Amino acid sequence: MTTGKTGEPHDRVDGRAKVTGQARYAGEFTAPDLVHGFVVGSAIARGKIVRIDAAEALALPGVLQVYTHENTPRLAWRDRSWRDMVAPGGSPLRPLHDAEIRFSGQPVALVIAESFELAREAAGLVKVDYEAAPHETRLAEVESEAHEPARGKKGYTPPPKPRGRADEALAAAPVRVEATYEHPPLHHNPMEPHATTVIVEADGSLTIHDKTQGVSNSRDYVCKVFGLASDQVRVVTPFVGGGFGSGLRPQYQLFLAVLAARELRRSVRVVLSRQQMFTIGYRPWTRQRVALGAERDGRLCALIHEAVGNTSRFEDYCENVVPWSGVLYECPNTRLEYGVAALDLYTPIDARAPGAVTGLWALESAIDELADALDIDPLALRLKNYAEEDQDHRRPFSSKALRDCYREGAARFGWHRRTLAARSMREGALQIGWGMATGIWEAQQAPSQAKALLTVDGRLHVASASGEIGPGTYTIMSQIAAEQLGLPLAAVRFELGDTALPPAMIQGGSATASSVGSAVLAVCRALQHTLLKLAQALPDSPFGGRTLADVEFVDRGLRLRSGVAPAVPLAAIMRHAGLGSIAEQATAIPDLARQSRYTSNAHSAVFVEVAVDEALGTVTVRRVVSAVAGGRILNPKTARSQILGGVVWGIGMALEEHSMLDHGLGRFVNHNLGEYHVPVHADVPAIDVVFVEERDDVVNPLGVKGLGEIGIVGVAAAIANAVFHATGRRIRELPITLDKLL
Ligand code: MOS
Repeated sequence: MTTGKTGEPHDRVDGRAKVTGQARYAGEFTAPDLVHGFVVGSAIARGKIVRIDAAEALALPGVLQVYTHENTPRLAWRDRSWRDMVAPGGSPLRPLHDAEIRFSGQPVALVIAESFELAREAAGLVKVDYEAAPHETRLAEVESEAHEPARGKKGYTPPPKPRGRADEALAAAPVRVEATYEHPPLHHNPMEPHATTVIVEADGSLTIHDKTQGVSNSRDYVCKVFGLASDQVRVVTPFVGGGFGSGLRPQYQLFLAVLAARELRRSVRVVLSRQQMFTIGYRPWTRQRVALGAERDGRLCALIHEAVGNTSRFEDYCENVVPWSGVLYECPNTRLEYGVAALDLYTPIDARAPGAVTGLWALESAIDELADALDIDPLALRLKNYAEEDQDHRRPFSSKALRDCYREGAARFGWHRRTLAARSMREGALQIGWGMATGIWEAQQAPSQAKALLTVDGRLHVASASGEIGPGTYTIMSQIAAEQLGLPLAAVRFELGDTALPPAMIQGGSATASSVGSAVLAVCRALQHTLLKLAQALPDSPFGGRTLADVEFVDRGLRLRSGVAPAVPLAAIMRHAGLGSIAEQATAIPDLARQSRYTSNAHSAVFVEVAVDEALGTVTVRRVVSAVAGGRILNPKTARSQILGGVVWGIGMALEEHSMLDHGLGRFVNHNLGEYHVPVHADVPAIDVVFVEERDDVVNPLGVKGLGEIGIVGVAAAIANAVFHATGRRIRELPITLDKLL
């Protein structure tokens, strides 16, 4: 029997549904009256629409309507100031609201037809005349106009104030490195494209299947924008085929599908094409300057990190790029600065470990440069400057097993066999390089609710309006519940992704296990409490005067921890009380009074071996060891998969991925998976994932830190550092393509 306990490597409880096609995604729901929408995107990057001629499209039999800013009904934009849960400061895109064009690919029309193919065909017949205005899509041209981002985005922390006098300390430092690092815009490219199916129910209410990481965020958007009451809109998204941040905000297909469904009073589905997936946000283009000053023994005495990322002209997308540099290493003099600069592109959106991926790429490259300048082993340099407390906030870490990550990762990798000098580890025509880097991500908890129903037949149903973008949420929530009630995993059903369920935080920030997991724990504790009280009423009850601390739930029953007697079946307890079921609901709220006295982060140490063909400049990642300190691990199997996915994306970021702009058109041009290169199996080596032991009773009642993002952080720097070790060439502009090594 599968015991269902946490800490055990269970297969995904939803795995079978996913691989057999039973799991339904937003664009797969249907209704008898369903019609299809296809989006027409702007051909220019800036300017305005002067004329739209949809006559030819409308003439096709089966085309029902073409919506544009000219006929978009007054139904929409009831609340123009409304901004979604994770919106940055500024004014969000309002599709089909006016004639103004703000970025290439901006939706300018929606064609509705009886079939998807017909809608797509008709979309090609919509003629749009524009009056183009000059646009700018080059970061270097606007970098000097960088400004502090307008506040608004949840989770954004402005850089901490300078500590000491970094510039003077740098000037006086015996050893200095200083460099600029750059990475291009990067797109998420989840397998499932963004899609929305709006089903118009008989009573006129809407059931919406939207590709989203937060059903409540989508529901609130629809209610506010269309002036609907919350009981008229239900968002149901049981499965998401990858989000990585791209589903954090309502995307324009949601607006368009609801608009058409409201107007036509028919069910509507709008699915974006792969090309259109390049018009909904990206990891921003970022340039960073890092300057490090050190004593000859390697102790840091100055650290300056300045970053500029791009945003759009209508919103100030911002992320935590530089704060990590103040917290990761001990240094008396730091200055951290961050700004955004506006381009004529759509607003960027969070992408897996937003900010940390970016900042650590620069910081951990610079640390490696410093190690080289000092002739010190890069790992030894990091240990020498290991921060024992958060100097920026003058508070301890709730836990920090990063030293164990370094030690265990290095041991697994065989780091001690590395020769110090660059170009010193050749294998025939191949230059071999070993590099490493540190990763960091914050451990967060947000308020969430869950409900539970235990039935006398021994089945437990637990539910929360959380999301499942793929990390294994169904599985770990089922494990938490099964463990708490002493049930087999198969007896537990966890339900999520439905606004009819108790509200939960949006799935992001690696905080679902922490937040929703704590709610599941809380609701199970409420059940335990009720069951114990009922058990105390049993004839000759052994539980009289006992508390939950004295008992345990095992084998579908309840028993005294100290006792030897078999467990009293939960069914017997419920039957004696005359109950067919017990229902509970609970809210888990972070203990901010306690949590705010500490800094809580997940950490990693990434070790990489690359082989570079000196004649061809090709880089192959041959081995990766990722050692992670992420608090308690609820399911080693799904946890490992999170790190594998992060490492693979890190390989893509380092070597392949690059959303290329044609600055003449102001448009991403490699907008397909043929030309936007992501790692394929042949690019991915054996990846060894190690979870080091880490106990933390501050972060949340479960002691988990979240694993969705930490896996990618540091990987690009580790690879760049390995490439330097192999070749002696320091590449500071990603991706590291062969042209940069020849
Ligand atoms: Mo994550 S970028 O918070 O989905």
